[in-house]
Amino acid sequence: MLKPHLVADSAGEFAHAVLTGLAQPQKTIPARFFYDHAGSELFEAITTLPEYYPTRTEVGLLTAHAAALGTAIGPGRAVIEFGSGSSAKTPLLLRAIAPAAYVPVDISAAFLQQSAAALAAGFPGLPVLPVAADFTRPFRLPAGIAGLPRLGFFPGSTLGNLAPMAAVDLLRSFAATLGAGSWLVIGLDLAPGPGKPPAMLEAAYDDAQGITAAFNLNLLARINRELGGTIPLAHFAHRARWNASLSRIEMHLEALQDTAFSAAGQPFTMARGETIHTENSYKWSLAEARLLARASGWAPMAEWSDADAKFSLHLWQHAPATLQP
Ligand SMILES: C[S@@+](CC[C@H](N)C(=O)[O-])C[C@H]1O[C@@H](n2cnc3c(N)ncnc32)[C@H](O)[C@@H]1O
Repeated sequence: MLKPHLVADSAGEFAHAVLTGLAQPQKTIPARFFYDHAGSELFEAITTLPEYYPTRTEVGLLTAHAAALGTAIGPGRAVIEFGSGSSAKTPLLLRAIAPAAYVPVDISAAFLQQSAAALAAGFPGLPVLPVAADFTRPFRLPAGIAGLPRLGFFPGSTLGNLAPMAAVDLLRSFAATLGAGSWLVIGLDLAPGPGKPPAMLEAAYDDAQGITAAFNLNLLARINRELGGTIPLAHFAHRARWNASLSRIEMHLEALQDTAFSAAGQPFTMARGETIHTENSYKWSLAEARLLARASGWAPMAEWSDADAKFSLHLWQHAPATLQP
């Protein structure tokens, strides 16, 4: 089995994030902590739900535009995928561009190890070099790709978990990590429009089978498992709502009754109706996506979306800043 190079100290980071986040007036825990092994498996189950349009729409775009991506990008690059998860979409890109190496980067170390091994089995001869890291913090790329030109791959609209300023910072850091002349293929979920009512968005984050609810509640179960928490899961319910003024879906865990628990050795209380804010998922227009690129050192080279303008796929190139009038 491929062993990922481990960069993150996730146990200490998780305890710190939980203690800090639960002490805020609006309790909050960053979305990256959803992804322990159980969380990664639940996310995979979400991607197959009838309500969850992003995965099948992005797969459709990657399939339809693979040839154009191959022509623009060309062969021989190291592909660095940020938040690679199951790497299920990756073969569509790899077959189109004939890369020299593949580096999946994910915070969910054990799941990454499984996914990297499965992908490597399908691409004999391709060096697959997994890195278990939090990509919002500095991390090193494997020495095995030194000297290779690079392509970043950031599908799934994972960027949407970050507020706009943090998203720009992350895209800037990707530009610095990948280097001048690199490319980025990025999938971004689009804001509501005529073919995409807000109700479609809310259903995608609150499915009828309750898989997204289980994904959200797994964060509390993870606190109980890893940080000796005593959170009564039955006292909480999953909530997903469209915040139109901030153009984002918000996920919360709402206390159904007054409740008290401990986590990482600290006591906490919550009143009925109080929530823990667990995820934002920002949605953009195509024009905003271009602005995000330009604000972070990337030049938008091509963009595609589906007929209903539900989801978008972008090809950007790292353009070092030049002085312009
Ligand atoms: C929304 S899922 C997308 C998965 C996959 N890329 C897709 O398109 O279906 C987000 C993925 O990014 C990973 N992830 C989230 N935040 C991360 C972070 N800060 N650093 C590294 N990986 C992260 C998660 O473990 C998960 O695999």
